[in-house]
Amino acid sequence: MSGALRANASRTDIDAVVVGAGGAGLWAALELAREGIPTAVLTKLYPTRSHTGAAQGGVCAALGNVEEDHWEWHMFDTVKGGDYLTDQDAAEVLAREAIPAVIELERMGLPFNRTPDGKIDQRRFGGHTRNYGEGPVRRSCYAADRTGHMILQTLYQQCIKAGVKFYDEYHVVDLVFEGGEADKGGRCSGVVGYKISDGSLHVFRAKTVLLATGGYGRAWRVTSNAHSLTGDGMALAWRHGVPLMDMEFYQFHPTGIVGIGILLSEAARGEGGYLLNNEGKRFMESYAPKLMELAPRDMVSRAIYQEVRAGRGIDGKDYVYLDVRHLGRKVIEEKLPDITDFARVYQGVEPISEPVPIQPTAHYAMGGVPTNLNTEVIAGPDGSVVPGLFAAGEVACVSVHGANRLGTNSLVDLLVFGKRAGKRMAAICKSTQLPAARPGAETAVADEMAAMASRPEGVRPAEIRRDLAALMMDNVGVYRDEALLSAAVREIARLKGEYARVRVEDTGSVFNTDLLEARELGYLLDTAEATAVSALARKESRGAHSREDYPDRDDAKFLAHTMVWRGSDGAPAERIAYKPVTITIFEPKPRIY
Ligand code: FUM
Repeated sequence: MSGALRANASRTDIDAVVVGAGGAGLWAALELAREGIPTAVLTKLYPTRSHTGAAQGGVCAALGNVEEDHWEWHMFDTVKGGDYLTDQDAAEVLAREAIPAVIELERMGLPFNRTPDGKIDQRRFGGHTRNYGEGPVRRSCYAADRTGHMILQTLYQQCIKAGVKFYDEYHVVDLVFEGGEADKGGRCSGVVGYKISDGSLHVFRAKTVLLATGGYGRAWRVTSNAHSLTGDGMALAWRHGVPLMDMEFYQFHPTGIVGIGILLSEAARGEGGYLLNNEGKRFMESYAPKLMELAPRDMVSRAIYQEVRAGRGIDGKDYVYLDVRHLGRKVIEEKLPDITDFARVYQGVEPISEPVPIQPTAHYAMGGVPTNLNTEVIAGPDGSVVPGLFAAGEVACVSVHGANRLGTNSLVDLLVFGKRAGKRMAAICKSTQLPAARPGAETAVADEMAAMASRPEGVRPAEIRRDLAALMMDNVGVYRDEALLSAAVREIARLKGEYARVRVEDTGSVFNTDLLEARELGYLLDTAEATAVSALARKESRGAHSREDYPDRDDAKFLAHTMVWRGSDGAPAERIAYKPVTITIFEPKPRIY
């Protein structure tokens, strides 16, 4: 055993394990605690540092507090926003259950902004419309531009009050399966956690395991995602025979800080902000005349690239302006305080008097671990369930966002499906026994990690990570084609070969972040591979997947969810299947805004 890992794993038996302490994980844990189910939350960060805290502009629910609204309109917008790849039964659940979820959060004490008569205030957001597309509607409930932060604080307080047991700074490094892997009918029976403070391994045997680990934006060079967003849950499930679904659909948020990608909330446009090119023109009128800057994100990000390609980027460079000057100091400072600070601190720009340079930033995975409406992970297109394994939030693909998520629907997703996960897991925990113990469940991952920390020679993880991030940005970004994607698939395979020889220089056991980052790099390589392979196979353009060689949507061939399995023994992923989209009300139509 290398010095980076302490010998002898500890063992804990518990009913439910929740991996990740963002909004989905916290609400699931809260439901489990309410049902009296012994639950452990393992989180590689201190819970209130989870990435839900970075969601800024709001959480949509058709409350109708400031103008008429209906959950059916929200459902329609979600389906159309997703370019009709959204499963409509899931969109209905999302739109209906958003309403009680937001009201419950209010009753827990979340400090929403208020209307003059004391109701939760609501603002506009991209793609959310009144009466099935007539024009923008005020649907997003918000707490300034700190909505996710407030959700995280509120749910964490409730979890503490309910007695949820947290294992902070425990990095889950493997899943445990009984009776074979997921694609062979196996059952998930627990996880292996690595305690970051002392390098010890801990095996948790459980009746149910929830993946709530978020996305993998760190695979791209310019991203709004925190350093921790490395696709852990997706990659771990993939390694155990679970397919990943719709990975080609990755969202670029239009307004990231140039070069570094930190998010400047869509709320700025929801409050009335403009996007301007180097001629000072609101260029969105050429792309989405009705919704303008409040068109869905895939369209706005493509429009920015088109302007830049046409030489209308600012100073001929690869960015445009977000202009909020006309909103006035009061609105800017009271409703957009965080992003105003970000512009001042990171760009040295004063949004009250200057336009802010922005460019699209890798932001959100529409794809992920496939689940049914109760967040149970499914093993293939037939919908058969992987016993014991659940997923909710960005790590999951239910599929509620289809080919392109609408702004604020991520927070709705994690509230609605986090809560559903807790309820379903509680029911399963009450009706099943703990699976048989598996001696040596930690051996394989312990050997892999020890090898990284004891190789006398090898490649440094940072080099592979830098190459991967540049590759994903250049070849698997907003616009793609056959040549770019084929090259990406080949290059990721080469980087995976390098990764087999990766070496970490820190051999200690205390806060060995080198070792963890090397482990995370493996997850990024897996999720990047699933993305590039799925994107290469989808020969059409739909939502966030824009193929310049196949510019049209092709419902005859591709109105279906992609499922991709990991290759065995390190071979590249090849096995792909397609799962039909659930259409209940809205027949696919051309998507015009
Ligand atoms: O722009 C934003 O505030 C981001 C929200 C979201 O991704 O839903």
